[in-house]
Amino acid sequence: MSHTFPANFVWGAATSSYQIEGAWNEGGKGPSVWDVFTHDATPPGSVGNIPGQVFTPGNVYHNHTGDIGPDHYHHLDEDVALMAQIGLKAYRFSVSWPRVVPAGDGDINTAGLAFYDRLVDALLAANIVPWLTLFHWDLPLWAHQRGSWLNRDIAHWFADYTAAVVDKLSDRVSHWMTLNEPHIFLGPGEHEGLQCSNARKGHAERLLAAHHALLAHGRAAQTIRARAKTPPAVGWAPIGRVKVPASHAPADIDAARLMTHAVATKDFWNNAWLADPVVLGRYPEDGLRLYGSDAPCPLPGDMETIAQPLDFYGLNIYDAERWRAGPHGTGGRPEQVPFPPGHPQNALRWFIEPEALYWGPKFLYERYKVPMVITENGLAGLDWVDLDGRVRDYQRIDYTRRYLRELRRAASEGTDIRGYFHWSLMDNFEWQHGYSQRFGLIHVDYATLRRTLKDSARWYRTVIDTHGASLDQPVT
Ligand code: FCB
Repeated sequence: MSHTFPANFVWGAATSSYQIEGAWNEGGKGPSVWDVFTHDATPPGSVGNIPGQVFTPGNVYHNHTGDIGPDHYHHLDEDVALMAQIGLKAYRFSVSWPRVVPAGDGDINTAGLAFYDRLVDALLAANIVPWLTLFHWDLPLWAHQRGSWLNRDIAHWFADYTAAVVDKLSDRVSHWMTLNEPHIFLGPGEHEGLQCSNARKGHAERLLAAHHALLAHGRAAQTIRARAKTPPAVGWAPIGRVKVPASHAPADIDAARLMTHAVATKDFWNNAWLADPVVLGRYPEDGLRLYGSDAPCPLPGDMETIAQPLDFYGLNIYDAERWRAGPHGTGGRPEQVPFPPGHPQNALRWFIEPEALYWGPKFLYERYKVPMVITENGLAGLDWVDLDGRVRDYQRIDYTRRYLRELRRAASEGTDIRGYFHWSLMDNFEWQHGYSQRFGLIHVDYATLRRTLKDSARWYRTVIDTHGASLDQPVT
């Protein structure tokens, strides 16, 4: 059977504000939690400059910050020109909440909005469709100081901010994502202390924070639909925690499907705890049993607010776990199958599993029946500029080729998949890993801010131009 992508499948690349913009204190922008987290230089264990919060220097690799980074804020035109060179049809970016609402006193920073206004105009002039994410982790410091996601009012703050962005941009922007990976900013970020804010909350608090994040999602979706000047497509961009079957035996496929939907451990490394409320309007039964009295008690109307209709379900997928049916196919509890020694990994040591882009969208589409969009997928590499000026990132090409072929197979077999956004357009600040990881199609020299299209960018251009047909050709 020959596999093809749907005719109107969208080809894009993605970034986020804190990771690429720089200009952390310019144009009226207020501080975000990441600005504080990366700047704090007090000794371990002491109280940093967010009242009541403890920050530990050294959490970010070599104390890197996003102060300048790729400096996209000052390279907007050049970057859009590079997107056009890659042939992108769409670009997923995020708006920095503290750039738009610096102080939380009701004032909107018009200079901040003007930056995104220019970006959107430049994209449209280059025939690139803007896909806008409202929150990709750079929480305003003022929101953090008022209790962050533990304060139920955050849903109103987020809706007010959303209204300002929608009012300014929705005459030209029609694709919206509310939250990027709440699993991470609530889990490793807020719970395990790997990212902002080092808070290490207990289960009940963490689940309450998550409930408020879901309310913020719902309120933002309502706000977009109520105010948008052009018909909006509303989605979100959760992480896709994919379990692939260790073999194609039906029992193993069932095991992988079961575990993809299960809430089996008390963390956010699952899909259903956050996605069931968003799409189905209820918390999953297994999760409620697992958490018992730690589970949040929704107020009347909460679940209706959270479960807004979605036009697409974004999925950030990089890797997967392998699972099989319980011992000897007896119907016992599914078990995870470790990758064999030497199995390919990216530079962050995440295992490479191309079938993640087949089973992930398929399983989640089966459960949620919302069109799927891959909002992130890509490879962390140790790329550098060769002596002759080229960046030969063959591993990124091979990775993407394998993953896209699996995605195409899923689309051909009936999973409704509408688009693919490569992470990332350009090398950038990889959160606690600083600049030690390179995910870009474009290489960035952080000393000179010089951009270089990597070989993968040229290869991706051909994929886009041929609508995926070139995935069948060997890479030369
Ligand atoms: C995702 C994040 C994105 C980037 C990639 C590698 O979890 O959404 O910002 O860090 O991973």
